[in-house]
Amino acid sequence: MLKILWSLLLTFSGSQASRPLAERNTEFAVDLYQAICSSQKDNIIFSPLGTTLILGMVQLGAKGKAYQQIRQTLKFQENATGEEFSALKSFFSAISKKKQEFTFNLANALYLQEGFTVKEQYLHGNEKFFQSAIKLVNFQNVKACAETISAWVESKTDGKIKGMFSGEEFGPLTRLILVNAIYFKGDWKQKFRKEGTELMNFTKKDGATVKIPMMKALLRTKYGYFSESSVEYQVLELPYKDDEFSLIIILPAEEVNIEDMEKQITADLILKWFSEMQEEEVEISLPRFKVEQKLDFKETLYSLNITEIFSGGCDLSGITDSSELYVSQIVQQVFFEVNEDGSEATASTGVQIPVIMSLAPNQFIANHPFLFIMKNIPTGSFLFMGRVTNPDTQNVKGRDLDSL
Ligand SMILES: *[C@@H]1O[C@H](CO)[C@@H](O)[C@H](O)[C@H]1NC(C)=O
Ligand SMILES: *[C@@H]1O[C@H](CO)[C@@H](O)[C@H](O)[C@H]1NC(C)=O
Ligand SMILES: *[C@@H]1O[C@H](CO)[C@@H](O)[C@H](O)[C@H]1NC(C)=O
Repeated sequence: MLKILWSLLLTFSGSQASRPLAERNTEFAVDLYQAICSSQKDNIIFSPLGTTLILGMVQLGAKGKAYQQIRQTLKFQENATGEEFSALKSFFSAISKKKQEFTFNLANALYLQEGFTVKEQYLHGNEKFFQSAIKLVNFQNVKACAETISAWVESKTDGKIKGMFSGEEFGPLTRLILVNAIYFKGDWKQKFRKEGTELMNFTKKDGATVKIPMMKALLRTKYGYFSESSVEYQVLELPYKDDEFSLIIILPAEEVNIEDMEKQITADLILKWFSEMQEEEVEISLPRFKVEQKLDFKETLYSLNITEIFSGGCDLSGITDSSELYVSQIVQQVFFEVNEDGSEATASTGVQIPVIMSLAPNQFIANHPFLFIMKNIPTGSFLFMGRVTNPDTQNVKGRDLDSL
């Protein structure tokens, strides 16, 4: 089986096939965003790539309707078995070459009730393609099980993601849980100067204001101003060091409700921004922010028509011969922080990059809710996507405020 999969990888890793795949990945990311949005009020963060990864793992062991539903939702082409692996493979190989430039921690695992026998082929496939672990636990021993899984995630994410499970997640019928945790840390290509950061008002979705540390910079970077059916917004792209990743910020005009903007977002629109943005001088005000979220994907995936894997009688015979296996939960937790250096606090001081001032640089002042996308540049995959409606105010209270 491995041989066949590897040859499929080679078939699909050509650039001809990868372009439309990036589009379909974007569509899936937008579908997820819309589905998650409808159930969340405030800040959102999730990983489209992580979700693809975890669903790819299930698909590898699924047959029949369970298999079809995943492929449809992930927008894989009908006959193109293997393209899902190719997208992930190119992502992993792209990031592994540049590992020293950033920290990308991925804890990806499938936890199965002790007593089930996992097929050898499935174990091999998972390790090869998804860099993920298959582990056996006893879900009946709720507390120990929660501790085991949480400790594993913590150790895989540099201690950034702690206490992911409490035990409430497990019940007497729990057989299979999919766990996906991601932590990213990188430096900006052009850092913000710490001395430039000042406290400013941020107007939340409900109109209330909070004082938050606002980072400032005048940079030459990709920028665009767009208007769609009277909703006006700006899009800004800030690359990380080495141009492997970039953060794209989508900021509606002040009078635009973020929800009106969200409703308009489609994959086509996102790809249009990417193709139309130009290098320009921009005077940027961007909050420091930190978003962390644990999401139970069951409902989200249900609303995207992935239902079969959660029901008794689904065909996961690629994983085990037992017919009693189905997915109890899919849980994803992500930690992402943006500050002057990049995506997580360290002690260094940024350098001012000299720019030649034009008379009237564009102003990008993110003092009200915005959306963001964290993109892997070479593959076009979205590592994170989300929105900030209230930058974490905890920063303001402690140590960080003292440095202002
Ligand atoms: C997929 O396979 C079916 C039947 O083998 C064929 O009719 C169809 O054209 C194929 N689609 C693509 C996109 O290759
Ligand atoms: C910031 O918000 C507070 C409270 O709403 C308001 O009193 C103050 O005038 C605002 N400051 C600025 C500079 O807009
Ligand atoms: C889910 O299925 C319904 C009914 O078949 C369809 O209208 C909807 O577009 C599907 N949603 C997705 C995200 O595929």
